[in-house]
Amino acid sequence: MHHAIVRGRGDFAEWRNRARAFLFAGIEPQAIDWQEASMDAGLFGSEETPLPPPAEGAAIHVPAAFIDLATAVVCHSDPARFDLLYRLLWRLARERALLQVRADEEVAWARLLEKSVRRDSHKMTAFVRFREIASAVTARRSFVAWFEPDHHIVARTAPFFQRRFNDMDWVIATPRGTAAWDGTHLTLSDEPAEKPDISDDADELWRIYYANIFNPARLKVKAMQAEMPKKYWKNLPEADLIPGLIADAEARVIAMAKRQASEPLAFHDRLQAAARAVPAEPLPPAGTLEALRTEAASCTRCLLHCKATQTVFGEGPDDAEVMFVGEQPGDQEDLAGRPFVGPAGKVFDAAVTEAGIDRRRLYVTNAVKHFKYEPRGKRRIHQKPNMGEVEKCRWWLAREIDLIKPKLVVALGATAYAALTDGKEKLGDIRGKAMLLEGGRTLFVTVHPSYLLRIPDAQRSHEENRRFVADLIAVRHLMARLASEEKKSVAG
Ligand code: URA
Repeated sequence: MHHAIVRGRGDFAEWRNRARAFLFAGIEPQAIDWQEASMDAGLFGSEETPLPPPAEGAAIHVPAAFIDLATAVVCHSDPARFDLLYRLLWRLARERALLQVRADEEVAWARLLEKSVRRDSHKMTAFVRFREIASAVTARRSFVAWFEPDHHIVARTAPFFQRRFNDMDWVIATPRGTAAWDGTHLTLSDEPAEKPDISDDADELWRIYYANIFNPARLKVKAMQAEMPKKYWKNLPEADLIPGLIADAEARVIAMAKRQASEPLAFHDRLQAAARAVPAEPLPPAGTLEALRTEAASCTRCLLHCKATQTVFGEGPDDAEVMFVGEQPGDQEDLAGRPFVGPAGKVFDAAVTEAGIDRRRLYVTNAVKHFKYEPRGKRRIHQKPNMGEVEKCRWWLAREIDLIKPKLVVALGATAYAALTDGKEKLGDIRGKAMLLEGGRTLFVTVHPSYLLRIPDAQRSHEENRRFVADLIAVRHLMARLASEEKKSVAG
């Protein structure tokens, strides 16, 4: 095994030099252990293996797109990035068009890391706030800022600030390095900096500026939260204004509308006619379950879409009172594009019918919408989704619940329970109990039907089937109770 030890602070050259030497020497990716030098690695970790000598006159040609991708990916904080890049480099020698295969798992993973680095850089350009400091060294105005990036992006983002704030001196300090500009030189360091004490009068200016540019008519709270996640707020002087501005937004929009001119805009008719001439997109109406289903069909929020045939979205009436949540589609569901149509679905259907529940009234969906599997020969063996995948897919599940508004949600198994609640309790401890979910809905937990299929002993299998049917009978009673409670509360 070769040990490659890098500082891992976004320096492309340190990875490239090692990768080049390994590639020339024909060393396969699985024979290299890439590590980031840390205190621990220095004291207790492995020594770096001397690099193979450079091959005389040899050259490596890789597509320019790989260099772009790799320079971004080395900035990511995922420790596996060096190995991933070397795997891609290795494969590129044999598969020249590899980077165009977007469904390839390693390509897709690298693209996700690249995207996250670009996003972090973008956030830095948006959320760095300079504060003026007195400088004894220069007559120019001097500023300092503190920012906390997720990745090693200071060096790649610093040129943006050099261009934008060329006529002042500044230092941007971060826990992942520092950039400084003095009007002539851009100085970069990848050593972690300490947070400077920098609140001052400039904060007040920012707050005034922010309150003035805030347009209540264009307020989209969810988009705003996604664009400006809370973790950045603590370093933003305007952050404490936001809740108040949001709360006042509706009243301000009404006031703005009252002030609007009542005359149509010049060329209004012509603009409307031009808009009508644009062919309508055959999209379902926004905010409907159909629109969500269409959107989910092209989901790439995690890597599972690479190997799955398609997104398997939920199915059932869009005003269902009960929603059943499984784990993830299986082999047959993946091919059919519908949930619970394979062996576990058959067990589920039979038990639901036996419990006296009308299957047609149920909405049935999964915590994860793509099939995760391991190919083994011609077979695809089911693999449990990890919490990262569950977390990414929870976005869809939450929207399904928002739109359908079921009174009762039934979690089939531990993955569904974790997706619905974040809870880590043992299934045995919560099975068969009604609980309260966020938003006032009732949650009931039982086992997943595929658990019944895995019990080898016939007697036990029979007993567990009975218990599952008993759980579903409890669900039927709960449905009736919730419906009658609602009737009573409507009646007064
Ligand atoms: N198992 C699940 O959790 N969901 C399906 O759709 C099929 C099997």
